[in-house]
Amino acid sequence: MLTSVQKVFKTQNCGLPPWEIKSEMPFKRKILCIGAGYVGGPTMAMIAFKCSQYKVTVVDINPERIARWNSDDLPIYEPGLDEVVRAARGRNLFFSTEIEKGIRDSDVIFVSVNTPTKTFGAGAGMAADLQYWDKTAREIRKHSQSSKIIVEKSTLPVKTAQAMERILACGDNGLCFDVLSNPEFLAEGNAIKDLENPDRVLIGSSQTTEGLLARDVLVEIYANWVPKNKIITSNIWSSELSKLVANAFLAQRISSVNSISALCEKADADIQEVTRAVGMDSRVGNKFLNASVGFGGSCFKKDILNLVYICRHYDLKEVADYWEGVVRINDYQKERFILNMLHVMFNTLAGKKICLLGFAFKADTGDTRESPAIRITKRLLEEKADLVITDPKAIDNAKDDLKGVTGSISYVEDPYEAAAGCCAIAVMTEWSLYKELDYREIYRKMAKPAFVFDGRNILDHPALHEIGFNVFPIGKPSLTHF
Ligand code: NAD
Ligand code: UGA
Repeated sequence: MLTSVQKVFKTQNCGLPPWEIKSEMPFKRKILCIGAGYVGGPTMAMIAFKCSQYKVTVVDINPERIARWNSDDLPIYEPGLDEVVRAARGRNLFFSTEIEKGIRDSDVIFVSVNTPTKTFGAGAGMAADLQYWDKTAREIRKHSQSSKIIVEKSTLPVKTAQAMERILACGDNGLCFDVLSNPEFLAEGNAIKDLENPDRVLIGSSQTTEGLLARDVLVEIYANWVPKNKIITSNIWSSELSKLVANAFLAQRISSVNSISALCEKADADIQEVTRAVGMDSRVGNKFLNASVGFGGSCFKKDILNLVYICRHYDLKEVADYWEGVVRINDYQKERFILNMLHVMFNTLAGKKICLLGFAFKADTGDTRESPAIRITKRLLEEKADLVITDPKAIDNAKDDLKGVTGSISYVEDPYEAAAGCCAIAVMTEWSLYKELDYREIYRKMAKPAFVFDGRNILDHPALHEIGFNVFPIGKPSLTHF
């Protein structure tokens, strides 16, 4: 039975597209993903899990990462990931460092390498650093022996596909490469659920016959488990830009709420009451309105800065300034949190033991990239506080992040032990286990007066106050005994 793509080629009497000819049995298609990180690993595991007819190989230049993907101790923590990997690994899911072989053998290549903010030269601190992306394109060109579909999975500046096509097109091997954009919208800590049941899958392609046929191949892969009405297609530039804009909108929502949280603290209003009222308007919606110590994660800041950089490049100063404000408010929120701690703890933190509950940038992940806890730690150390850091999954990453930072820091897995002897605890991550701790017991072993700074508004503030704590939530009146 011919696939829809094969049928089109037959009816057009131009033979099978090159990436259709070479797939050998028993696998219908050979998929490669370059980059075995937070996106490449889980997304490919899900494709392999859902589609046993495809062989899925994930390669990386980092041999330790690959070794861990092949072990029982996966390199990232995501609820449900272990089960998905265990079901598919060795059957049709493979992790390898053999990049050259992987490229040679595949029909469809996802590129999911990191695209961090550039730290050098033109655009430093704003633009995306595309060196890993560029190297990957050159590797693909160098090792390919057949034509392929290349899928941008990484988040990239709009128009990057054009650069990819130009790099790939200048080979003298007569091969053709169709570049698609298929941005990933998963959120960490929720990756498996997001991949299994995405709000949408977006596929951007060039609008040529070849581009549309390549797009259909990718649609066919996702259609194995994603309902057709959730697989949307667009031109390639809209797709690339939609990813940056989606993250900018989400981050803007948090900065909007956080900016109002500052006003609530001055006006004796309660941010949760305000967001409940505002979010019940169905045009606004009630999700993603939690005030916090600030958003973190590897992408929000970098993607907004990238958007700002692109706007400046096109001379859209007002647009750039508007979006840059989202990042400025996020920095302001972290600084506000620290200055509040300093102020209410009698204007000195020197020598005071403070426990940070959580270090991950959000719950259910060990990822600490751009975690607000990093900035808070550094600022508390500048004030010469003694820090105790606890987190159920992120202590190893915290140690890496704080390597070389001077000051007194200890890492303690058990939250009760971590809080013992401290003057204050500050909630950095919304781990649900922190809601269930015995705060009476914690209070008993803390220095007095004892403070709680709830950077996530997850604790029962009146109950803590009743125990004896001085409680400082975000965007709500404080509850003190002074
Ligand atoms: P990551 O740093 O976890 O993983 C990237 C991997 O690519 C690393 O393991 C690195 O060793 C590997 N790599 C780099 N250059 C390579 C090369 N030339 N050959 C082979 N491997 C190479 O990054 P991530 O969080 O998975 O993000 C990847 C992309 O996906 C980024 O563009 C990011 O913006 C985007 N994204 C991330 C998330 C997320 O939740 N983390 C969500 C959506 C989109
Ligand atoms: C975010 C997006 O939600 C994903 O759609 C996107 O694919 C991803 O970025 C990416 O491109 O990397 P992620 O950063 O993993 O996902 O996690 P989020 O749930 O979006 O949280 C980001 C940060 O915002 C966290 O620090 C979180 O604690 C904070 N946040 C979130 C709030 O402070 N308040 C909220 O109401 C929601």
